[in-house]
Amino acid sequence: MTTLNLTPDHRPTTLVGTIPPIAEHPRLTVIGTGYLGATHAVSMAVLGYEVLGVDVDAAKIALLASGRVPFYEPGLPEKLREALDTGRLRFTTDFTEAAEWGDVHFICVGTPQAHDSNAADLTYVDRAFATLSSAITRRALIVGKSTVPIGTAARLTELVRASSPVGERVELAWNPEFLREGYAVEDTLHPDRLVFGVQSEWAEAQLRAAFRPILDAGTPLVIADLATAELVKVAANSFLATKISYINAMAEVCEATGADVNILASALAYDSRIGSRFLKPGLGFGGGCLPKDIRAFIHRAEELGVGQAVTFLREVDGINQRRRTRTVDVIREMVGGSLEGVPVAALGAAFKPNSDDIRDAPALDVARMLSAEGAIVTIYDPEAMPNARRAYPELSFAPSLPEAVRGAEVVALLTEWAEFREARPDDLGRLVAHRRIVDGRHALNADEYRARGWEYRALGRPVESRTVELLSDARD
Ligand code: UDX
Repeated sequence: MTTLNLTPDHRPTTLVGTIPPIAEHPRLTVIGTGYLGATHAVSMAVLGYEVLGVDVDAAKIALLASGRVPFYEPGLPEKLREALDTGRLRFTTDFTEAAEWGDVHFICVGTPQAHDSNAADLTYVDRAFATLSSAITRRALIVGKSTVPIGTAARLTELVRASSPVGERVELAWNPEFLREGYAVEDTLHPDRLVFGVQSEWAEAQLRAAFRPILDAGTPLVIADLATAELVKVAANSFLATKISYINAMAEVCEATGADVNILASALAYDSRIGSRFLKPGLGFGGGCLPKDIRAFIHRAEELGVGQAVTFLREVDGINQRRRTRTVDVIREMVGGSLEGVPVAALGAAFKPNSDDIRDAPALDVARMLSAEGAIVTIYDPEAMPNARRAYPELSFAPSLPEAVRGAEVVALLTEWAEFREARPDDLGRLVAHRRIVDGRHALNADEYRARGWEYRALGRPVESRTVELLSDARD
């Protein structure tokens, strides 16, 4: 096990010296059972811990308790049933039960973008910490996992002390989570690293006990102070967003010069200092994390007086947004300059494949922009249709891929689901009005489509560009 130990110098010593015994297998509660919390609760139970999942949403708790996952996440339903069968995983809406039962409480509630600014909305985090700490009557550790602005853990430490009936016997730690949707179980059970932001040896020991099987498997561990632990998460997401926008900025330059961004990306990726991961050009990033995390980071950095250090993230956001408008421009160009009354098939609604998450989804943004210009847009997504329909009842949806492309003047691939990548150009070609396709994710074989008479376009590539296989990584 690799341990980058920054302690003891960085750790306040108030609680050191009175360290109570560590439970071999601490009892874990997980507050908030969304993507993060449900996956964490299930995975910890599978690893051998007794776990209590807690949520204010009774319907969600009832679903999970009956072995059903309220969202699409490959592999999670099987693991949920496996965990329930062991008898180690239970669910409740009762915070008092959780407070009395648990040794280590993980807070996994959402921190969405606030409605009126770029800041993170901390209402749910604050409420979870306050409700739980006011009900805890014994020594316990509350561990924040939610993505929060730097300084939140320090503020919550005060809040917990003030609201807990047992004062400093309830301690706070931070343990950022790096899981990706679509790979949530794998990322939780086999993370690249664990980060523990702690204020005492006792807290560190509790977390080591809570993650023992993962640490025993050789997972690197970084011990940090609270602020660094909070910062690791936003810094990681900012870096990933920057890498994607970097290659998409190069795509803009390619478009102006006739260069080919796929050849460029391949050549860059062979440099092991750069690598191929998160260097895939296209429609850019969306989802519930990357876009809102960089905006909240800019906001927080400005509050802290270091806004200049992250001004580049505004450009990262700007480049990302421009990919969406540029996709609409290419589609408009292909049909001769006006989208009014033009049938367009929009393939994809989720922000990425293997997810039903439509938060800040580039695909739906493009569909809405096309529709605003008068195009007759028909959307199809293998998993995200119910969410998309609920959020945008004014848009039109088709029940299948063939239905979506039937009669289309242009097909736009916006989320690279396997179903779209594997579709045969001739099969689609027989259904469309015109064989025109915009590959918003560089996911299709350009040569094959052209050979079948399709006009094929992709962002950042010359009109007549040939297929270039981007380096792929099995972990993406
Ligand atoms: C991200 C982080 O990867 C994860 O560590 C963190 O915990 C949560 O945020 P996630 O939102 O699940 O995870 O999606 P991710 O796989 O990172 O993809 C984000 C977006 O970037 C998607 O819209 C994807 O299509 C896009 N993307 C990704 C690219 O456009 N190009 C790439 O090369 C990689």
